[in-house]
Amino acid sequence: MALKDGIRARLLQGSRAGAGDWLSGEDLSREFGVSRTAVWKAVEGIRSEGFAVESSRNRGYRLAADQDALTEEGILGNLLEYSTDVHLSVEKRTGSTNADAKMLAEAGAPELTCLVAGEQTAGRGRRGRPFFSLGDTGVYLSIVLRPHWSLDRAALITGAAAVAVCRALDPMASGEPRIKWVNDIYIAGRKVCGILTEGSADLETGGLAYAVVGIGVNVYEPDGGFPEEISRRAGAVLTRKRQGMRDAIAARIIREFIGIYRDAAWPGFIGEYRSRSFLLGESVEVVGGSHDGETVSVIGIDDALGLRVRLPDGSSAVLRSGEVSLRLEG
Ligand code: BTN
Repeated sequence: MALKDGIRARLLQGSRAGAGDWLSGEDLSREFGVSRTAVWKAVEGIRSEGFAVESSRNRGYRLAADQDALTEEGILGNLLEYSTDVHLSVEKRTGSTNADAKMLAEAGAPELTCLVAGEQTAGRGRRGRPFFSLGDTGVYLSIVLRPHWSLDRAALITGAAAVAVCRALDPMASGEPRIKWVNDIYIAGRKVCGILTEGSADLETGGLAYAVVGIGVNVYEPDGGFPEEISRRAGAVLTRKRQGMRDAIAARIIREFIGIYRDAAWPGFIGEYRSRSFLLGESVEVVGGSHDGETVSVIGIDDALGLRVRLPDGSSAVLRSGEVSLRLEG
């Protein structure tokens, strides 16, 4: 274990911008006091974690360019002041981080248990839809929360996560991240992130037992592109793979979210949510609820994150996120 960690750390040194430096098997075996076979086995273990490691008989091993493997150390290192508050677990692949986190929450996992995966084989979206998460090109994360909050207050968690994602992606994305009510993040007209908050009510108090906020970001486009059914809408945050970017994105999202979540002024983020939203003044088609199929124009977002709209007959209504979703016109 320690050997693999040590060799991984050596391979990662100086590999942020491109391929890493060559490290000879002989030097590594001397440095760690083990046989060359043990070095080779450790490298195989690192490969199975998702790293592409090149090997050359004469030169040894190096991390290949154009890759970006998720690492627990990288995320922890970027969590800064929150690194001791977060109970972090990182996996290359899982079914659904939300499903895993809910299971852990039911079993008593503490506040800020945080699961991060590079791909999901059964990613869950809103309204029971699947969420594309294959290709090992994203950041899929779920955070367990246990606030002593009413359900109304907890209903704003998704909005807080949307603002956190925008803040996290702002400095690294090529375009400005904007929120499509209530839980989608778009960059340059394409959806790069979806958020799904699930929870369990405490029947004794009428409040929240726990919530799991799940955030899925398309960091890169998968090889061969997005599947046809989402290819017109889906986009990615970055175009060129660089080691460490996914770790940084995961950690920044977690940090920004915790900052908003712990802010005594909750829900002080609503103003920022409004200014980062792009639907104001737009015409959208309502899907679901009592206005299903109607084209409405968006006139505002209220303090409970309800969408205020003008209906075709000229009257106004407030749409609630649990009941409807929106289809962009055009
Ligand atoms: C949506 O756009 O409909 C919401 C998608 C939410 C996806 C995230 S990815 C991490 C977490 N695990 C899941 O299975 N879903 C959420």
